[in-house]
Amino acid sequence: MDKILLKNKLLNTRRGLLKGTGLSVLAYLGASNIKAFSQGVDFKNSENMSDDILFAEVRKQLMLKENLVYLNTGTLGPAPKLVFDKIAAMMTRLEANPAIENFGPMGKMMEQTRGKVARFMGADEDEIILTRNTTEGISIVCSGIDWTAGDEILTTNHEHGGAETGLEFLADTKGAVIKKITMPYPAKDKKQLLDLVAANITDKTKLILLSHVVTVTGLRWPIKEVSKMIEGRNILLIVDGAQAPGMLHIDLHDMGCDFYACSGHKWIMGPKETGILYMRKAVQNKVNNVFITGGYATYSHSSGTRNAPIIIGFGDVIDWHMAIGSKRSEKRCLDLAGYCRKQLAKVKGLTIISSDNPELSSAIVSFSLDGDVKNGDVFTQMRDKNITIKRLPQYNAIRISNHMFTTNKDVDQMITLLKEIIA
Ligand SMILES: Cc1ncc(COP(=O)(O)O)c(C=O)c1O
Repeated sequence: MDKILLKNKLLNTRRGLLKGTGLSVLAYLGASNIKAFSQGVDFKNSENMSDDILFAEVRKQLMLKENLVYLNTGTLGPAPKLVFDKIAAMMTRLEANPAIENFGPMGKMMEQTRGKVARFMGADEDEIILTRNTTEGISIVCSGIDWTAGDEILTTNHEHGGAETGLEFLADTKGAVIKKITMPYPAKDKKQLLDLVAANITDKTKLILLSHVVTVTGLRWPIKEVSKMIEGRNILLIVDGAQAPGMLHIDLHDMGCDFYACSGHKWIMGPKETGILYMRKAVQNKVNNVFITGGYATYSHSSGTRNAPIIIGFGDVIDWHMAIGSKRSEKRCLDLAGYCRKQLAKVKGLTIISSDNPELSSAIVSFSLDGDVKNGDVFTQMRDKNITIKRLPQYNAIRISNHMFTTNKDVDQMITLLKEIIA
């Protein structure tokens, strides 16, 4: 029997053995059989698992150190071991015959990631560019669009520095005027936000940049409604999606924005230095950038050589999310955040700055500390007790990321320590 046939036979036997256990798919994947993963396992069984079993299995597949309470996926997410193993295997394979592999079989595998990403994000493959991170995606757009000095960019005072880099480049080199909406925190409802946008658009507004999920408060912008508001007005809408895919189910065509940039290494829990840039077909001719003169393929003459193992691993983590189901993981994340918000609301000495309106809230819950307690001290004391949180630069605040692999128990542990520190 040749090697491939033998491998498939073994795989089928294992599948058969595991079938009906309720744990089959993920227990099987948990064995970090990267071959099985990349060859496609019957993931449908995960639908028959309870959330508790499914997400406990998800957690088991991570490489987080034991007893760590990890509540900062918003900065960097932990990758599943099977993705890590795949990357290691691909690195070994690459080094065995670098030029042949990179521009041959592994180059083809790398390119398949674009298709997976397109399906995951509700876009077409020829609208997707694989970047290194969110910052790069936004910078590609901002450094490639035509601009008339004096034209305005509308954004907010709650954007991340990575996104602001592109906007400031436009201001510094092409005379763009940046207008920032002062964000309410917590925000009340969609109307409040849409009124703020409407009130700040002028005849000179040419570009709007908003975060899908705001890095400071976790506010979820009603992007679809903003897209509708500016329809036909010759205004481009860039969405900073760094904090959304992997947490929320994404459908870019439905959302209607022109550009969407995000990172693979946050909520998607992918390899570090991976990112996605979406450019809607109708606006692609508006971005003229040297890095994409060779087209959007992952490798082209203008992209230069890429890191194939990392990009192939990125494709695998997308498969992994699709296997879990992005609507299901979104619900899990939002439920966890709901619990977190409820428990935090009982703690004296802090103010929650995240919206509790279900239409505006996400899996991020942020709070500022009242009185003399400093967020830096809370961060350090938590870190020393194996709890990872994010200290925000604004409002003496702390940000909690409730990803699908966390539990209510994690939140309880964090809050118990928080109360001790505040007291
Ligand atoms: C909203 C937002 N935009 C952009 C970034 C930058 O991401 P990256 O460093 O992956 O480019 C971050 C990182 O936290 C973010 O939260």
